[in-house]
Amino acid sequence: MSCEKAYITTPIYYVNDIAHIGHAYTTIIADTLARYSRLAGMETFFLTGTDEHGQKIEEAAKKRDESTQAYADKISASFKELWDEFHISYDAFIRTTDEDHKKGVQKAFLHMYRKGDIYKDIYRGHYCISCETFFPEIQLLDGEFCPECGKSTSVVEEESYFFKLSAYEERLLAWYQESPECILPRSKKNEVVRFVESGLEDLSITRTSFDWGVKLPKEIDDPKHVMYVWLDALMNYVTALGYGTDEKNMDFWPARVQLIGKDILRFHAIYWPAFLMSLGLPLPKHIAAHGWWTRDGEKMSKSKGNVVNPKEVTEAYGLDNFRYFMLREVPFGGDGDFSQKALIDRINSDLGNDLGNLLNRLIGMSGKYFNGKVDSSLVSKYYQRELDEVHASLNKLEALLFEMQIHRYLEELWRPLSVANKAIDMYQPWTLMKEGKEEEAMALNGLIAAILSKVAIMLSPVMPAVCKKIATALDFEINNDTWQSMIKGTALLNSFTIEKIAPLFPRIEEPLLTQIEPVDKKGEAKKETDKNSATKEKSTEGVALIGIEQFFETSLKVGTVVKAQEVPKSKKLLLLQVDVGEAKPRQIVAGIKEWYSSEDMLHTQVCVVANLKPAKLMGFESEGMLLAAKDESGLSMIRPEKPKKSGTPIR
Ligand code: MSP
Repeated sequence: MSCEKAYITTPIYYVNDIAHIGHAYTTIIADTLARYSRLAGMETFFLTGTDEHGQKIEEAAKKRDESTQAYADKISASFKELWDEFHISYDAFIRTTDEDHKKGVQKAFLHMYRKGDIYKDIYRGHYCISCETFFPEIQLLDGEFCPECGKSTSVVEEESYFFKLSAYEERLLAWYQESPECILPRSKKNEVVRFVESGLEDLSITRTSFDWGVKLPKEIDDPKHVMYVWLDALMNYVTALGYGTDEKNMDFWPARVQLIGKDILRFHAIYWPAFLMSLGLPLPKHIAAHGWWTRDGEKMSKSKGNVVNPKEVTEAYGLDNFRYFMLREVPFGGDGDFSQKALIDRINSDLGNDLGNLLNRLIGMSGKYFNGKVDSSLVSKYYQRELDEVHASLNKLEALLFEMQIHRYLEELWRPLSVANKAIDMYQPWTLMKEGKEEEAMALNGLIAAILSKVAIMLSPVMPAVCKKIATALDFEINNDTWQSMIKGTALLNSFTIEKIAPLFPRIEEPLLTQIEPVDKKGEAKKETDKNSATKEKSTEGVALIGIEQFFETSLKVGTVVKAQEVPKSKKLLLLQVDVGEAKPRQIVAGIKEWYSSEDMLHTQVCVVANLKPAKLMGFESEGMLLAAKDESGLSMIRPEKPKKSGTPIR
């Protein structure tokens, strides 16, 4: 066991909204790195959590008429629950409202203050509540709007404590230069360097105009100030290890990798190292910034209603498949587009054809010729060349992972699978058996099992549950011992009898979620919309403008629910029969069960989109869609104000 330490962090998530796939992406990457580090015998600490202070959270709670603490408790718990459902292997879940965290932040503030890095002055400028960021006037769009998110900013003139960020300019530039990989990918680092070179202003780090934050340390005795949320939040990475309290896990610092999205790079690559320098703490080894996920080419936002819910996707497609897709689909650092078609293609092709099918072939061959037995003892006698090729690929993997080239890690990991599939096609076990070359056929079996076992070990951080199943079928365990002997070394499996297991990746013929993407099974609808969107005009809100003829292409009708029942095993779906004035009622599968029971829906009127292509949801055909309005407070059906005959068109 190596005693190397690996501290891996995600950003802490704001509790103004529930998790979406952007959050899931960051967390899944970090989880993969943490799982790999444990597999490779490193002493690992994986941190995630929630960011709960600041004006944005205070306002979100007010809007819902809840106390800020109760609101933060609720959303923080929803993040934790989701990560538990996703089997995220975090070692600690920090909340910035934890008492120990607050004590640690106060201690840090005092340290920087006593060192002379903090002074008091008046802040005059603009503040974007949505980004929790101060902006000088020259950076604003049209003198008013936030350059990051486009929302309106407010003018702030208040007494504030400042951190002497400008004093750290040279030291930051020296760090970027001395540690070429401190910010990954490197292209992102260049952006940061240019920003710092253009000059840094001191940073306002306290506010007096609201209350929901960490108070200044009592030694400073200035009770009207609370700390700026980013100072509070960034400190979580060390307070979670006991900074300022019991210091229990501080030997995990500096972090091996701190994962973030590109939108919060400036805070992590400039403010955070400057704070650490001021505190006399070492700097993280890598800050790794990933790109942004869009949905069918558009930015996800609540107002557009196109936010992808990771829970829905994993319930339909499987957690490990979703993990594989997210990590394989986009080069780390680049932006990615979520579509069901792309997800299905990855599952059917990479997972089904290349991996699942190989296991099926092995089960078939060993069953047919050797009663299920697999013996690797003669693999090197007949297939040394193939083994060498496989080991050469495996040797490249670890470096790719810690350089955050995760998509290349997976690409490289697929090479051994292709060696295996090619070996079967080339040496043809059925021909070997016909020619009486039983020993060679058994060695071929052993080669395929060896490749599958090695791939399963290295794929396990990405797809833990699936790889466990593969390992069980091949009668071995994935752990640091097998990683040592079969990945670092060249050991092969002992002889064993293979277990016949059901196919791991049954083929998916059509999208499983209509709400996410009402495309037909070949993705043609998506392509059509893509084509249209290229020529569509955009309104001032960035929404595509359509002509009246286009609106009339949608057939909207009043419907009456004549039968309503639950979809078995689904937490979200109701199965409705809706009379829309046709010979027989339409069957509609609606994702409304969280808000409406089947009794609530029975005999009520609804608005139906009546000319959608049918799609299957959890095995049930859905022949339409219901209109509803959804916001943070829940979902409400759209209904005619007065009862109307079923089938009445809606104009
Ligand atoms: N609370 C701050 C982070 C403080 S860390 C000291 C914050 N929170 S957040 O909830 O808004 O975002 C957390 C992470 O989710 C960020 O890394 C952000 O990049 C990521 N994502 C949010 N939306 C995303 C996409 N659509 N796509 C990919 N990741 C995105 O920022």
